[in-house]
Amino acid sequence: MKVSTGIRGLDKVLDGGIPQGSAIVLEGAPGTGKTTLAMQFLYKGIVDHGEPGIFFSFEEFPDQIYEDMKSYGWDLKDLERKNKLRVIGISPDIFLDQMASKDGLFEQLVREIDCRRIVIDSISLLEYLPDKTGENGRSLLYTLRNIVRKFGLTSLFIQELSSLDRRKIPFEHFIADGVIRLSLKEHMNIFRKRTLEVTKMRGTKINEGEHIYQITEKGIYLLLASQIVTDKYISDQKIKTGIPELDNLLGGGMAKGAVYMLDTNSKANYRHIVGAIYAERVKAGNRVLSLLSSTQTVTELKALIDLYGIDLDQLAREKRLYFIEHYNRPFPAGWEGSVFHVHGMENEDYDRFLREKCTGLMKECKENHEDWFAYYDLSTIFNERGAEYVLRSFAKETAFARSLGMTVLVLCNFKEVGEQAASFLERTSNGVFKTWVDGSYQYLQVTKSPDGQISKPYLLESIDQKPYIRLV
Ligand SMILES: Nc1ncnc2c1ncn2[C@@H]1O[C@H](COP(=O)(O)OP(=O)(O)OP(=O)(O)O)[C@@H](O)[C@H]1O
Ligand SMILES: [Mg+2]
Repeated sequence: MKVSTGIRGLDKVLDGGIPQGSAIVLEGAPGTGKTTLAMQFLYKGIVDHGEPGIFFSFEEFPDQIYEDMKSYGWDLKDLERKNKLRVIGISPDIFLDQMASKDGLFEQLVREIDCRRIVIDSISLLEYLPDKTGENGRSLLYTLRNIVRKFGLTSLFIQELSSLDRRKIPFEHFIADGVIRLSLKEHMNIFRKRTLEVTKMRGTKINEGEHIYQITEKGIYLLLASQIVTDKYISDQKIKTGIPELDNLLGGGMAKGAVYMLDTNSKANYRHIVGAIYAERVKAGNRVLSLLSSTQTVTELKALIDLYGIDLDQLAREKRLYFIEHYNRPFPAGWEGSVFHVHGMENEDYDRFLREKCTGLMKECKENHEDWFAYYDLSTIFNERGAEYVLRSFAKETAFARSLGMTVLVLCNFKEVGEQAASFLERTSNGVFKTWVDGSYQYLQVTKSPDGQISKPYLLESIDQKPYIRLV
């Protein structure tokens, strides 16, 4: 069972919320919003989920807390009157005594309001308590965790973080079921950004990364690092890539009618990424338009797609495949009708060819409700038509593909085309996959997608069966 944190973004980071009954350390430097987040957890728990809570404060008086929390529009006194909340100002040593004793103040309070959630603000002082029972601060924390577990309370233990004690992993992290860290960081010299990171959470998968949050007049608002601005005009119909893990990252597949860049570098092996997608599209009955680079021959493409159990020969004869050929290379017998030779064609003529020949063909198919998929190598256009041509025509072609519902996969090497062109291409496409080699590993990451989902870098592993690669 998951318990909502009262912060929508944080619930998403935690795949639904905090596992019920967990003891979580909430740590951060002074002023990062620990008290606010913890109180929001209690407040929303009561108001939205009917879970009463207790807030123990070692440092501030309840009146101060009521006052501070008013700025978020939270009327804590009202909740106290309704026996849903208790805000207790107490010294740490008395608190520990009461907590450890059977039928002490702690147990009474928990029973009195049928408490489900607690906050302790903060446990930092516990370590420095004079040693009464022969236990040190660390085992006090251990005891604390066991008591809240016994009562099945979902709890937040606030921990002050000063920059001094960062050397080792604090003991609290080992004991706690989860750790949430709030940080305040320098950002673009003058701004500071607040970030939240979940570094541990037993019993749930977590969305890794530093997520930015803001303290607003309604409390804490968190934006997921993997959620950026979306393209609303792209259809939400998804088409499969043939790589199951990639489909998952993309929320089901590539968006139909969207233009995706595959950014590769020379060392990275992208053939199976392309092969899997290409084969999957052909299998789905798409007509495919391809523009191969000078280094990829049609024979090679045929061999690659053959691995996926698809005979391109037959498809070419049936005119389901088309090629735009810049290098005047020979094509297998029977394919003649599917190849447009554009070798030596001026840019203007090439433009006219695209406008007239290609679009005519595609519109015709659209009328027959046939879908198109295009795969092309942008380096060929850069080399043969010039960077200026690419920058001038890419946006136009992208819009055109979208209007026809044609899904496009563009191979490109961002490093090679230069920063300015790369940034333009990245902006203009609807999705970007990057693959690169670092040391002896190859990675793949979705850095842009029409519905705003981006991913962490995944390792690419070779496997023996289709699709021959797996994301780990
Ligand atoms: N209504 C509000 N809107 C925006 N920011 C606010 C509002 N109210 C308080 N803040 C900011 O929230 C911050 C304090 O949050 P909070 O007290 O929860 O932090 P904390 O981590 O508990 O700090 P401490 O270590 O001092 O206890 C302050 O810096 C304050 O400027
Ligand atoms: Mg505080």
